[in-house]
Amino acid sequence: METLYQQIAAELAGQIAAGIHGPGDRLPGLRGHALQRGVSVATVVAAYRKLEDEGYIEARSRSGFYVRTRKAIQTIEAGASSVTAPPCPVTGQSMTMALIKAASNPGIVQLGAAVPDPAYLPTNAVARALARVARTERSRAAAYMMPPGAPELRQQIARRMSQTGGCVSADDIVITTGCQEALSLALRACTRPHDVVAVESPAFYGLLHVLESLELKVLEIPAHPRTGIALDALAFALDRWPVKACVVVPNFSNPLGYCMSDASKRALVELLTQRGVTLIEDDVYGDLGFANRRPSTCKGLMPQADILYCSSFSKTLSPGLRIGWVAAGEQRRERIEYLKYVTSIASPSVPQLATAQLLENGRYDRYLREVRGRYASAVARMSDAVMKYFPEGTRISQPAGGFVLWVELPHHVDGFDLARRALRQGVSIAPGTLFSVSGKFGNFVRLSCARVWDARLEKALLALARLL
Ligand SMILES: Cc1ncc(COP(=O)(O)O)c(C=O)c1O
Repeated sequence: METLYQQIAAELAGQIAAGIHGPGDRLPGLRGHALQRGVSVATVVAAYRKLEDEGYIEARSRSGFYVRTRKAIQTIEAGASSVTAPPCPVTGQSMTMALIKAASNPGIVQLGAAVPDPAYLPTNAVARALARVARTERSRAAAYMMPPGAPELRQQIARRMSQTGGCVSADDIVITTGCQEALSLALRACTRPHDVVAVESPAFYGLLHVLESLELKVLEIPAHPRTGIALDALAFALDRWPVKACVVVPNFSNPLGYCMSDASKRALVELLTQRGVTLIEDDVYGDLGFANRRPSTCKGLMPQADILYCSSFSKTLSPGLRIGWVAAGEQRRERIEYLKYVTSIASPSVPQLATAQLLENGRYDRYLREVRGRYASAVARMSDAVMKYFPEGTRISQPAGGFVLWVELPHHVDGFDLARRALRQGVSIAPGTLFSVSGKFGNFVRLSCARVWDARLEKALLALARLL
């Protein structure tokens, strides 16, 4: 467990890595910062001294603490792809399955799947909540919890969603088995096989496989590493193709890690509304921003629009709980409930009731405050290591939240071949081609940073560097 000053230092390191405090910026004054956080000045001094020792900031006499220029980091600035290829089917299942299986193999250093190491998760609190529910709610725990799912959980989710805008009711929420199922149900509610669905590019490979399993065609829209899906390219694509739905991860996208501005989120929803296209908003990383403020959601900014909002607690509480949800508008709620029922009847009851308890008692928010800083510092540390060990010409993303790093390798490197060789040496990474249906990102890889930093991880990065 990190002490308070280490948490503050980790959070600031992440904010610096994400560019929230840029080179030359003055950090908030000691007294003001201490007051704002409700901690002692000595704690803030200790945090700033730690950052100074790690080379993030420098003290200037009688003037305060300033962010230093970190010359070694080369960031990916331009969108890596040009305007849309025609809609395509999806491939690459076997490498995806190798990654997924590696995620639960303790013999492999897991930098591939975006699954947090349990050390980042509140495993004790989750275990206690599960045990309590199994003991005190025996009959409900033993029964089906039919769609839309446990009322107390839907109530808690609606309360949290309403804090980011709009007014979400518990009746709008349908509980699902993770965000992956939420995305699948949302897509099934607004498309038919062979329809065209627009996605940001690069896109999370799990989404591409859901699209493939539903026989949907994928239209890739380039995304900028800092600002998100290119709205002009999307408008152009909507003119050319009969797009039914558009799936976007506006907050801390996977793999680029950007957070779209409120203006871009509004412009995206307006564009899709004008063209009659449903937005499927995936907000699975929304609680994991490196800045203090929780970002807005498209659904919160424009609650009347045709938006199916999908999320889960897999990146925060526990992926094993498999608790996700769709927040649907009135017209689609019944359809989503029905699709949930035909898919799996109901999501397991005990995790639903335990999650409701964890949200109810404020522990979730306390945990989030801590883990955001830890993820930020894990991303900062991985960024530094990649720039130190990987060859000249390597460039990386600057995520504003979440815990994945998108790495552009020199042009001649084949990321897929690297991933295959690395797996043979006990290291799993995600090759860039999995994030595209049209063969893009051959010289990219994605690294999951939510690992405990130890000698084994450092050795794994050195092994990758040797292979490179
Ligand atoms: C952007 C995104 N959406 C959805 C999911 C799936 O989440 P869950 O584990 O809740 O099904 C992931 C998992 O990596 C993800 O990165």
